[in-house]
Amino acid sequence: MKERVEQAINDQIRKEAMSSQFYLSMASWAEGQGLTGTSGFFYKHSDEERFHMLKLIKFINERGGTAIISSLEQPPTDFDSLVSVFEQLLSHEIEVTESINNLVDICLQEKDYTTQNFIQWYVSEQLEEEALARTILDKIRMIGTDKAGLYLFDRDLENSVIQIAPANTATLGE
Ligand code: FEO
Repeated sequence: MKERVEQAINDQIRKEAMSSQFYLSMASWAEGQGLTGTSGFFYKHSDEERFHMLKLIKFINERGGTAIISSLEQPPTDFDSLVSVFEQLLSHEIEVTESINNLVDICLQEKDYTTQNFIQWYVSEQLEEEALARTILDKIRMIGTDKAGLYLFDRDLENSVIQIAPANTATLGE
């Protein structure tokens, strides 16, 4: 595996790990606020990011490279509001999308078409994650401070569509 590609995937491993920690912190905050559905959503989202990270680790190692597990900064523990949490989720996902696109770019420059093909799964995943974050943010902005609306929003989020490790794309032997 080309060094530049390996380095870029390792950077992405770190970003996915940071996403997982960030959403875990959001889950914990929501739990403390009594927002059970929102908390469940973020716990699941955190697990999903960990899956994204694991998939990259396996990919590097299976191709003879060395996956690097790095230390992470502590994510924020307090959030101003539910709107703020979902705004941060969306802006974080937009950053991750840019990073994935950059990874595709490096693969093409280095003519590593195998990795470029593998990364396409992440390109599609980012499209879905950004769309989901935008939809949720639109809803929560519409609800504003309406208590009954917030109650229903939280309940609906508990049954939301976020999925972990779709079987047809998993490469972790699960
Ligand atoms: Fe793995 Fe939400 O990016």
